[in-house]
Amino acid sequence: MGYKTIAWRKSMRITLDYNNMTSAVLGNQGISPRKLGSYRARATNAWNYVQENRGKDELYMGWTELPYNQKEIVADILETAKKIRSKFHYFVVLGIGGSALGPTMAFNALCHLHYNDISRRKRGGPKFYVEDNVDPVRMHDLLDIIDPAKTCFNVISKSGATSETMAQYLIILDQLKKAGVDVQSNVIFTTDANKGNLKKISDELGGVKSYVLPDGVGGRFSELCPVGLLPAAVCGIDIKGLLAGAEYMDKICRQNRSFQKNPALMCATLQVIAMESGKNIQVMMPYSDNLRYVSDWYCQLWAESLGKNEKLDGTPCNVGQTPVKALGVTDQHSQVQLYTEGPFDKVVTFLSLKKYGQTMPIPHGCENIPDVSFLGGHTMEELIQAENAATAFALTKAGRMNYTLSLPELNAFTLGQLLFLFELQTAYAGAMLGVNTFNQPGVEEGKKATFALLGKAGYEEKKKELDASPANNPEYII
Ligand code: PA5
Repeated sequence: MGYKTIAWRKSMRITLDYNNMTSAVLGNQGISPRKLGSYRARATNAWNYVQENRGKDELYMGWTELPYNQKEIVADILETAKKIRSKFHYFVVLGIGGSALGPTMAFNALCHLHYNDISRRKRGGPKFYVEDNVDPVRMHDLLDIIDPAKTCFNVISKSGATSETMAQYLIILDQLKKAGVDVQSNVIFTTDANKGNLKKISDELGGVKSYVLPDGVGGRFSELCPVGLLPAAVCGIDIKGLLAGAEYMDKICRQNRSFQKNPALMCATLQVIAMESGKNIQVMMPYSDNLRYVSDWYCQLWAESLGKNEKLDGTPCNVGQTPVKALGVTDQHSQVQLYTEGPFDKVVTFLSLKKYGQTMPIPHGCENIPDVSFLGGHTMEELIQAENAATAFALTKAGRMNYTLSLPELNAFTLGQLLFLFELQTAYAGAMLGVNTFNQPGVEEGKKATFALLGKAGYEEKKKELDASPANNPEYII
């Protein structure tokens, strides 16, 4: 695994098939080659912007360098993960937003789908949980099944001021104290190098093992730094392979300013054209249970990065595209009716696998019932791929924009490519829209109101504002 195997992996490049976006297939509902051509200059400018600002921490673009600058960190993470895998029974990530969606996505993509239910020998390490929400039932039920003394808790927060994560930390701290366990032996922080509350807590405790969430890396772009790499390594995922895949995709994209050769730039351009022609919804539909949480991770990346009310030059705007997650084939029996016949407001991104991790032959049987017997002799892989192709066909026939990203197979290297493609696509799209891709001011108001409601010092004015907001009108309460 890792860098040594890259040579054969090089042929494993994900491909973008965007035929179904073009007018040749779709009539007047598609994107004509002429329309695509008219966005070329904007796409090139976006490519230039990303290229010129790569690695700039002050612009939160440090994530572009993660495939290249973490050799020592990776070695440390692998060493630590090895110890965790032999010592602990449970590994629990406490974090929210990018700190939870990334680890969940990689775990689900590359580990056994029933990881926690298989034997320890087969897992080779602790059971794995990611706790993001502050639903009391969820925390109670977690504490019901783990033994804190046998658990390694990875607290991930750049600021150390995120109410959800810190509330969870306080609960865990209390549990560890009650169990007579030192925090240092069971807790690892992933946080800012110099500032933030976790840094202070670590200093007060005389040093807690900590990994750095680098300055120029925001939560939703953090999967390929210690935020995602430590949990992945603890689950036995080939983190060097992930980074090598990201590097491979990065090289393709940084070397090609033409969107015809740059899949991330082409995806960004197609999506921006779609957005600007009224397709305000983007459905992310992997045909793979392993890839289902890629959609959750992607939804945050796309929504938080592009949903903005101001351009970089200060001009007011309201841009963005609502990402929606769907799962093939499951949602064919739930959502596809709407996608095929509902409003022309969506573009569907399919994630397809050329080869699945397992084969599952469908045995012959029920020979007297042709409705059933035709399935015999095929495989589940054939069935899911046929349903994927059939859904793309049906959408296209109904004049619905869709394109497909195909992975030759799913492994750390191809997942790394996919993640980096999406991160670059988002950066290019943000540059095309002229917004700040890397901030999230719209999330702040709700955070401040929560602080005020819970009596945090410094939020007295906000509390007054909340108290002064109009009460619910009883006329509308049934
Ligand atoms: O993308 C982001 O920046 C957010 O989703 C953050 O990851 C999330 O709000 C958690 O923030 P913090 O790392 O400060 O706890």
